[in-house]
Amino acid sequence: MSELGPVAADEIDALAALMRDTIEPLGYYNARARRAELDKYTAARLRALVADDPDAALVARDDSGLLGFCVSRFDDGTIWLSWFGTAPRARRRGIGGALLTALAATLPARDAHKIWCDSRVDNVESCAALERAGYRRIATLTNHWFGQDYYLWEWTPEATPTG
Ligand SMILES: CC(C)(COP(=O)(O)OP(=O)(O)OC[C@H]1O[C@@H](n2cnc3c(N)ncnc32)[C@H](O)[C@@H]1OP(=O)(O)O)[C@@H](O)C(=O)NCCC(=O)NCCS
Repeated sequence: MSELGPVAADEIDALAALMRDTIEPLGYYNARARRAELDKYTAARLRALVADDPDAALVARDDSGLLGFCVSRFDDGTIWLSWFGTAPRARRRGIGGALLTALAATLPARDAHKIWCDSRVDNVESCAALERAGYRRIATLTNHWFGQDYYLWEWTPEATPTG
């Protein structure tokens, strides 16, 4: 049985490790993109992020440790979903979807009216999870960050999850 909530202070190192283990092998991104993303989510940077906004890093956990994460930041009245991920051993068990639901629940307290994010166009798991959670594809950015192609997505409380 897993539970879900803001990352605790003593889980930050494990969160940084899970993010590194998720991003490092993710073939959808080129080496430059992965390096840049890994630099952004060191333990020190994650600590600073949640000191400012405790909802900025949500995690799913069970007795074995962290199973998933959802990292976001306030962006001028919106929430930018930076990364979400589930440990390989825990995929397809609803954890990614539950993290997106938990993120949506943070909007009122963060005085934000929508979530937006990007995905690589060929990241089928991410696209499917976002669609399943009611995110809408709003744009395609070709030859964009690090020379790669991305979709932009948005979610608003009015959106109805499918299924
Ligand atoms: C994307 C990711 C977070 C999904 O996490 P998850 O915990 O496996 O997702 P869930 O079990 O909640 O699945 C939610 C929905 O996503 C879709 N989905 C998830 N994985 C899928 C896959 N491999 N193939 C097709 N659809 C998939 C399904 O529609 C699923 O709903 P269903 O099981 O009821 O059909 C996970 O695959 C991951 O960590 N990927 C690597 C990191 C990453 O790419 N992050 C996103 C960067 S933008």
